[in-house]
Amino acid sequence: MWLRYQPISNEQQLKTYRKQITQVVAQGDSATMQKAAAELQRCLSGLLAKPIASATKNPAKNALVIGTPNNSTLIAALGLNTELAALGDEGYLIAEQKINKRTALVIAANTDVGVLYGSFHFLHLLQTQQSLDNLNIGSAPKLQHRVVNHWDNLNRVEERGYAGLSLWDWGTLPDHKSERYEDYARINASLGINGTVLNNVNADPRILSDQFLEKIAALAYVFRPYRIKMYLSINYNSPPAFGDLETADPLDPRVQQWWKERTARVYKYIPDLGGYLVKANSEGQPGPQDYNRNHADGANMLAAGQKPFWLGVVFWRAFVYSPDIGDRFRSYDEFRPLDGKFADNVILQVKNGPIDFQPREPYSALFSAMEKTNMMMEFQVTQEYFGFATHLAYQGPLFEESLRTETYAKGEGSTIGNILEGKVFKTKRTGMAAVINPGTDRNWTGHPFVQSSWYAFGRMAWDHEISAETAAEEWLRMTFSNEQKFIDPMKELMMTSREAGVNYRSPLGLTHLYSQGDHYGPAPWTENSERPDWTAIYYHRAAKDGLGFNRTNTGSNAIAQYPAPLAKIYGDVNAVPEELLLWFHHVSWDHKMKSGRTLWEELVHKYYEGVEQVRAMQTAWDAQEAWVDAARFAQVKALLKVQERDAIIWRDSCVLYFQTYSGKLIPAGYEKPKHDLEYYKTLARTRYVPEPWHPAESSGFSS
Ligand code: GCU
Repeated sequence: MWLRYQPISNEQQLKTYRKQITQVVAQGDSATMQKAAAELQRCLSGLLAKPIASATKNPAKNALVIGTPNNSTLIAALGLNTELAALGDEGYLIAEQKINKRTALVIAANTDVGVLYGSFHFLHLLQTQQSLDNLNIGSAPKLQHRVVNHWDNLNRVEERGYAGLSLWDWGTLPDHKSERYEDYARINASLGINGTVLNNVNADPRILSDQFLEKIAALAYVFRPYRIKMYLSINYNSPPAFGDLETADPLDPRVQQWWKERTARVYKYIPDLGGYLVKANSEGQPGPQDYNRNHADGANMLAAGQKPFWLGVVFWRAFVYSPDIGDRFRSYDEFRPLDGKFADNVILQVKNGPIDFQPREPYSALFSAMEKTNMMMEFQVTQEYFGFATHLAYQGPLFEESLRTETYAKGEGSTIGNILEGKVFKTKRTGMAAVINPGTDRNWTGHPFVQSSWYAFGRMAWDHEISAETAAEEWLRMTFSNEQKFIDPMKELMMTSREAGVNYRSPLGLTHLYSQGDHYGPAPWTENSERPDWTAIYYHRAAKDGLGFNRTNTGSNAIAQYPAPLAKIYGDVNAVPEELLLWFHHVSWDHKMKSGRTLWEELVHKYYEGVEQVRAMQTAWDAQEAWVDAARFAQVKALLKVQERDAIIWRDSCVLYFQTYSGKLIPAGYEKPKHDLEYYKTLARTRYVPEPWHPAESSGFSS
C-alpha cells in the first residue's frame, strides 16, 4: 500500500532530511503513543535508510518531539494551548519550535490519537518529499465518523469483494492474530479513519453470538491503539434467529429487552464498541416493516439499547426500495416522512446516489431533504459497477463530484460536503462511510489502483474539500514514485479513468445496463426478472421515439424531490447537465446536443470515446516502466488489456442494442463492431464473471 517506506531516491533530499531529523522523542506510554513512535521509527529508518535514535527526554538538536500537553512535559512547556484548542480531540499541530534553545520539530495534539494522526501526516510529508522548513501545519477532521464497511460474510466469502477471501480468519481467531490485522489498522489510521464495520450488511445473526464476539474482541484489541472503533452489521431479526422470541417487533417490550441484554453482552466483549450498522427491509433483509412499524421505530429501538453505554450509534441504511413504487429513484419517499423522528444517536447512512453506486448518479435527494436527521455518506471503493478488480477506475473524481454538488437546500453553499459536515442543517452527528474490498490478495485490493480510491476516500472523509487530483498525486507519490515524469501522466490517467468508465458503460445519464445479478458486463436487453427494477429496460426506457427515463412532472416527477432551483435545472431539458440528461428526460433520438450532434450521434460518440480513453490509459502506462517495479508494471499492463477488451464489448453491445430502437447508422469514421447483437447476447449468457461469488446464486437476491 502507501506505507512501504522505501528509501528516498533523491540524494539531495535525503541529505537534507537526515540533517533535519536526528532523533524521535516521545513521552507518554499509552498504546497509541507507542504505536505513533513505532511508526515514526519504522518509517524514518526506511525512508532515511539508517536507524534513527529514540529518547524520552533531553531532545538533541533537530529532534522530532511528539506528545500532548498531558503526556509530555516538553510539549506542555511550549504553551501551545491556544493553537491546540482549535484542533479538537483528533486534530494535530506539526510545527518547528525551540526546545532548550535548540530547533525541534514538534507533533503536538490534545489527545494521543491526534499525535498518531499527526505522525502519519508528518511521514506523508517525507514520503511526498515536501520541505520541512518553517513547518506550521494544523489539521482537524471535518467529520466525526470516518468509517469503512466490509461486506464480508462469516464463511469468508466477500460480497462484491473481488480481492480474495475476507481478511478476518474466523477459524483461527482469537488465538491467532494475523500480522495483517495490524497492518490493516495502520493503513486506516494513516488516513484518519476511525471506525470499521467488520461484516456484510446482509448480516448473519451469528455475528452477535459469544463465539463470534470472542473473535471480534481479539480484532478490536488489535485496532484499539489505532483508535479504530469496531461496529457490527446486525440482522434485524436476531431475536427470532437466536430462538429466543418469535418476533422482532420493535415496539414489543420483550424485543426491546432482548436487544438491551444482547448489546450489554456485546459491550462486555468490546467495551468501546462503536455501534451497529443495519440494512433493514431492503433486498429481502428483515426489518421493522415486517411488523408494520417504520424505520424510525426500528432504529430507535436499537439506539435505545445502546443508550446506557453512552457511546454507541446506530448507522441505519437508507438503501431501501420497493418494486411497487413505480420509480426506484423515489425510494426517498420511504424516509422523507420520518425526518425528525430518529433518535439522536441514529445516523442515516445514505448512498451517494438514489439508485446504487452507478458510474454516475445525481445525488440522493435525501441529503437535501432530511433537515432534522443525522446523515452520513456511503460511498463505494469496491468497484462493483466499475469492472471489479480487473479495471482501473479511480473513484476520487466520483467522490469529489458528489461532495461538491450544490443542492441549494439553504441557498448557495449547501453542497453535499457542507451538509455532511452539519453546516447546512446543524445536525449533531456527522460522518462518511465507504464500502471497501480488501481481502487475502497479496496487494489487498485485487487491482493495485483500487487502493487509490481507498486512499482518496480516507482523505476526503477527513476533509471533504481535498480534491481528487490532490489525493491521486499523494497516493502516486507514496505508492510508486516521486518522479514528476511519472506523476503527471499517471495523475491524468487516474483522473480520466472514472469518466472513461462512464463513457463505455452508461454515458449521458444512462444507468444500470448490467446483466442481472453480476454487475460486470453489459446486458441492456435484460427484461425478465422477478422484479421490474432488476431489469435494464426499466432504467433506459429505449423506444422508437427516443431514450431515457422521464422523471419530470410529466413522468415520475422524482425531480420534485430536489430543492426548487435544482429541480428547475434538472427539469429543463436544455438546462440539465448533459451527463445527467437521460436520468431525468426521455429524449428523441434527434434531440440536438450542445456539440451539435443528435442524441444518437452523441451516444455513439461517447461509447467510442470511452474505448479511446482506455487506449490512451494503456499508452500512458506503457511509458512508465522505468518508475514501477516489474511485478506491478506487468500486472497493471495486463489488466488494462482486459479493460480494453471489456470496454469494446460494452460499447458494441450497447450501441448495437440501442440501434435497434434508433434505427440509425453508426456514423462514418468509427470502427465497426466486429460482431452482431446476437453474438453479444450469447456472450452475456455465457460470460465468465470474475467474481468469486454470485449473490444471486447463494442468497436468493440480486439487483
Ligand atoms: C447492491 C449490491 C448488493 C448489496 C447492496 C447493498 O445492490 O449489489 O450486493 O448487498 O447493494 O448495498 O445493500
